Amino acid sequence: MKRLIFLGPPGVGKGTQAKKLSERYGLRQISTGDILREAVQQATPLGIQARSYLQSGKLVPDEVVINIIGESLKRADSHLGAGYILDGFPRTVLQAEALEKMLKQNRVSLDKVLSFSLNETELIPRLSGRRSCPSCHAIYHTEFNPPKKAGQCDRCQAALTLREDDKPETVRERLKVYRRETAPLLDYYRQKGLLADVDAAGSMEDVLKRVQQAIGDLPAVQKV
Ligand code: AP5
Repeated sequence: MKRLIFLGPPGVGKGTQAKKLSERYGLRQISTGDILREAVQQATPLGIQARSYLQSGKLVPDEVVINIIGESLKRADSHLGAGYILDGFPRTVLQAEALEKMLKQNRVSLDKVLSFSLNETELIPRLSGRRSCPSCHAIYHTEFNPPKKAGQCDRCQAALTLREDDKPETVRERLKVYRRETAPLLDYYRQKGLLADVDAAGSMEDVLKRVQQAIGDLPAVQKV
C-alpha cells in the first residue's frame, strides 16, 4: 500500500497525474481542492466558509482543512487497497505537522512526496486552457487534452466549466501563496528523505513515466 503526497504550484499537473494513477493502479486521489469546490457548489456550511478563500486564491484556514482530511484519512487507512495520493494537502508546515500526527495515530507512514516543477511561463497557459467537470472532476485542456465534444465531459456528459480561480489575477495570487506558504514544505520533506523531484514539462504520458519511476513498483488494476 502506497501513501503519497503530490506537491507543486497551481496548474503543474498534480490532479491530472493523480487521476491517471488512480485509473491504472487503483490509488485513491484525495484532493482537498475537489472536496472544497464540491462543498461550495452544494453550499454546505463548509462551502459557505471556504468560498471567499477559493475565489480570492488564498488558503482556507489550516484547522478547517485539517478537519476535513482527518476523516478521509481515517477511512483510507482502514481500507485495504492500493493506497492513496494526497493532492493539494498539506500546503503549510502546520498542515504537514498535523498530517504526521494523524498518520502516527493511524499507525502508518508516508512512502514518498513528489514535487512537480515547471517554468511559470508554461503554468499560465495550462491554467487558462483548463476545463473541469463539476460533476465527476475530470480535467481537460482546450489544446493539450480536449474533450471529444467541445464543452462536454467525455465520462459523464456534464457541461465543462472554467474554474473561478483560474482568472489571471487570482492565478497570480495563488502563485504568490504557493511560494510563500507551500514551497517551504520542499525542504521539510527533503530533510525527512521523502522528497522526489518530478520535471512536469512535456506531454502527460512523459510526465507519467517520470512519476512511475519516482514511485516504484505498483501492481496494475485487473480489468474484468
Ligand atoms: P487545488 O484545487 O488544490 O488547486 P492547485 O493546487 O492550485 O492546483 P490545480 O488544481 O490548479 O492544478 P494541478 O496541479 O492539479 O493541475 P491540473 O492537473 O489540473 O486548490 C484550489 C484552492 O482550494 C486553493 O487555492 C485553496 O483556496 C483551497 N485549498 C485546497 N487545498 C487546500 C489546503 N490544503 N489548505 C488550504 N486551502 C486549500 O492541470 C492543469 C491543466 O494543465 C489542465 O488543463 C490539464 O489538462 C493540463 N495539463 C496537465 N498536465 C499537462 C501536461 N503534461 N502537458 C500539457 N497540459 C497538461
